[in-house]
Amino acid sequence: MTDSTRLDGQVAIVTGAAQGIGRGIAVVLAEAGASIVIGDLQPADATLEEIRAAGGSAVSRIMDTSVAADAEAIVELALAEFGRLDILVNNAGLDEPPGNAWDLADADWQRTIDVNLSGVFYCSRSALRPMIEAGHGCIVNISSRASEIGAKGVSPAYSATKAGVRGLTKAFSHQVADKGVRVNAILPSLIISRDFGWTPEVLMERRKDYPLGFGTPRDIGEAVRYLASPAARWVSGTELRVTGGNQR
Ligand SMILES: NC(=O)c1ccc[n+]([C@@H]2O[C@H](COP(=O)([O-])OP(=O)(O)OC[C@H]3O[C@@H](n4cnc5c(N)ncnc54)[C@H](O)[C@@H]3O)[C@@H](O)[C@H]2O)c1
Repeated sequence: MTDSTRLDGQVAIVTGAAQGIGRGIAVVLAEAGASIVIGDLQPADATLEEIRAAGGSAVSRIMDTSVAADAEAIVELALAEFGRLDILVNNAGLDEPPGNAWDLADADWQRTIDVNLSGVFYCSRSALRPMIEAGHGCIVNISSRASEIGAKGVSPAYSATKAGVRGLTKAFSHQVADKGVRVNAILPSLIISRDFGWTPEVLMERRKDYPLGFGTPRDIGEAVRYLASPAARWVSGTELRVTGGNQR
């Protein structure tokens, strides 16, 4: 039987794939057959090595998604290196510093907006040009369940920008669906993507909220694989909640 989630011959940009969820997404898409282009603030050597060791193809470039020229450059790299661009995953994001509204400095509010919202816009705008020209393509935006429910102690800029990402998803989808380009969002709950510095007691308490266990970067990678693949050819403008059974 044919696997309708294979991505052989396709080219995917994944932002923020030097670590965490982005790395999980890049590895899963490479396993599905896609060539990977990583854009990150930091070197992505570990991800590149993991993909290449498994026989996949990947390149990377240092970039800041909140800089429009960097967004142009990562798309240029994909086209120069692989000759096409099929998939953009807007994963790079910022949830630091934690804190409540009254603690949030102007500069931290603005930086979160620049990265989480403007970054998604710049990368999408750059990627849409070749996708529209080709009459084919797909964007997957990594939002968050925090966009719907907020979270105590998490920057309100984070929840607000992740809600903005859902707005961009809907807006883009309307504008490009008839041009053969699909745009969708994923809303993950807690993913153990790095060391959050929690004590075992805190981890155990948080674990109670997740009937299916804590999420891993790979869980989000598998969801992206579906949305990016021919299996989701009739899916655009939608939001996929990946929550480990957490209904809150
Ligand atoms: N971890 C979770 O529980 C969770 C839940 C919901 C949504 N998310 C979202 O998933 C995405 C990835 O989260 P994570 O936990 O893996 O984060 P992370 O901090 O572990 O990794 C983020 C990566 O993005 C890169 N990055 C940050 N800002 C960048 C910029 N301006 N330009 C380019 N690269 C940049 C970082 O260098 C890093 O490699 C984020 O958008 C986050 O908001 C995470």
